[in-house]
Amino acid sequence: MKIITVANRKGGTGKTTTAYNLAFSLALKNKLVCLVDLDSQGNLSLISKVDAISLEEFKNCEIKKINDKIDILPFTKDFPILENEINSLLDRNNYLRDNIITKIDDARTYDYVIIDTSPGMNILNINAFFASDEAAIIVNSDYFSLSGLRQLIGVINQVQGMNTKLDYKIILNNFIKGRKYFDSLEPILKSFEKYTDIKIPSRQAFIENSSLSKPTIDLEDVYTEYEKMCAVLS
Ligand SMILES: Nc1ncnc2c1ncn2[C@@H]1O[C@H](COP(=O)(O)OP(=O)(O)O)[C@@H](O)[C@H]1O
Ligand SMILES: [Mg+2]
Repeated sequence: MKIITVANRKGGTGKTTTAYNLAFSLALKNKLVCLVDLDSQGNLSLISKVDAISLEEFKNCEIKKINDKIDILPFTKDFPILENEINSLLDRNNYLRDNIITKIDDARTYDYVIIDTSPGMNILNINAFFASDEAAIIVNSDYFSLSGLRQLIGVINQVQGMNTKLDYKIILNNFIKGRKYFDSLEPILKSFEKYTDIKIPSRQAFIENSSLSKPTIDLEDVYTEYEKMCAVLS
């Protein structure tokens, strides 16, 4: 079971959209996937048409079914309470790994767990890095998006000191071909060792499909990039 955390300190870069579409891309390859919604805003649960659960239900790992290949552990509005509880533990970093991921592992023989995180850097997001094999960092082609990137990589590097299996990849989302300013951004992106050259195109269909609870991988140029993502993250 491979565990992937989708992350960026910034909101709106496409973390939730990527987690959702990656799950469907892996399902097309006959993989069994469990999504985990770690954001108390619950966008991933909303797209997946599942309701919020209570903190107790989250702790008991009450997984819901999206389709034959994809399940989800929905969000709880009480993540801030859970964060306080985790912060008072002696081992603050491995709550998710030892209490939630273990239960997901027992529930079904998943090939992948994909964790969608909230913006910012709270203890749940740190826990996600501690539990993961991969972090998929979703950036946009703008300077603001890149500004927090170095800091996020710094955090991941620190976690790697303790969770040695953790690797990460930088993935570009919302890419618009032919934009002049990208010429000046691309060398910066390419200077990062873990830049993948995966560019998910900007498509209106992502916005429309999220309210229809549909993935957007039926668009050929989108699916090409998601196939690359499946390959680099597997
Ligand atoms: N490649 C894309 N092209 C067009 N719109 C996108 C794309 N990726 C995400 N979006 C839209 O951008 C908004 C923010 O995406 P979301 O996945 O919720 O970001 P985050 O989880 O990082 O906050 C949503 O309305 C989503 O539909
Ligand atoms: Mg989100």
